Amino acid sequence: MPRTAYVNGHYVPHGAAAVHIEDRGFQFADGVYEVISCVNRHFADEVGHLDRLERSLREMRIAMPMARKALQLVMREFIRRNRLKNAYVYIQVTRGVAPRDFKFPQGDVRPTLVVSAIGRPSFDIAERKKLLKKAVTVPDIRWKRRDIKTTCLTAQVLAKQTAVDRGAYEALMVDDDGFITEGSSTNAWIVDKQGTLITRPTDHNDILKGVTRNAIQSLCKQEGVKIVERAFTPAEAYKAKELFITAATTLVMPIVALDGHKIGDGKLGKLTSKILDFYFAYATDEKRKQTHWTPK
Ligand code: PDD
Repeated sequence: MPRTAYVNGHYVPHGAAAVHIEDRGFQFADGVYEVISCVNRHFADEVGHLDRLERSLREMRIAMPMARKALQLVMREFIRRNRLKNAYVYIQVTRGVAPRDFKFPQGDVRPTLVVSAIGRPSFDIAERKKLLKKAVTVPDIRWKRRDIKTTCLTAQVLAKQTAVDRGAYEALMVDDDGFITEGSSTNAWIVDKQGTLITRPTDHNDILKGVTRNAIQSLCKQEGVKIVERAFTPAEAYKAKELFITAATTLVMPIVALDGHKIGDGKLGKLTSKILDFYFAYATDEKRKQTHWTPK
């Protein structure tokens, strides 16, 4: 089955899909993106991701490349043409093509829109519970507007490679005050000795407002799991009972060692397991209206 990409109004063979060399995404990383998990041909947390896409674009002063409804139609047609059932779908929007100049281009420059996907096997909760990962900490060297999901991912690429070089799955980034911000492409959570679920607040724009994070917060509320929003240090994480990360791609991923320190008993934690269960039920429930995320 040949792969198809969507580029600026055209469905094209994946291998031939291209953007111009003067696309500002290529020249300046002047663009934003979203990653949405497609589960059984259904987009998990679609509303949240599209809300955040629109917000990122607003913050960057880039126009939506098409109306939301039209984009949703493209996403569905894209899935149909690729015969995808389970996949990560990538939506990338840049400021468009213009002669290289730092300032915004003048005149009628249309944003570039690319939709592509990576297929993956269907979710198997039992298998997922066997996946226990390691993480390391690295300094957070990013800019201050981490709430914008920009395609400028240099710091995250370097962080992730450091994790891989050290035999780990994810890098948790640490700010100048010594607190963990988030993972290179995930939000981070700990469960302390008292069983309190802790995650960093998002109101300072110094981490990404994760759509998965947001859904889990709402689900925890429904399930009676208390969450405290505050920053935590690597030292606190080393002593935590449980540590896990969340994202549209990793969903809920237990971390059982951080910088070589065993977390809890080094096994899947009770609360992590429970959250995995209810997040899986939520992400795979096509009938549930997934509208948890509201942009500011
Ligand atoms: N990353 N923090 C960062 C820095 C991220 O890049 C991501 C997502 C998240 C989690 O956000 P969400 O739950 O909305 O996926 C947190 C995506 C998956 C990526 O870049 O591949």
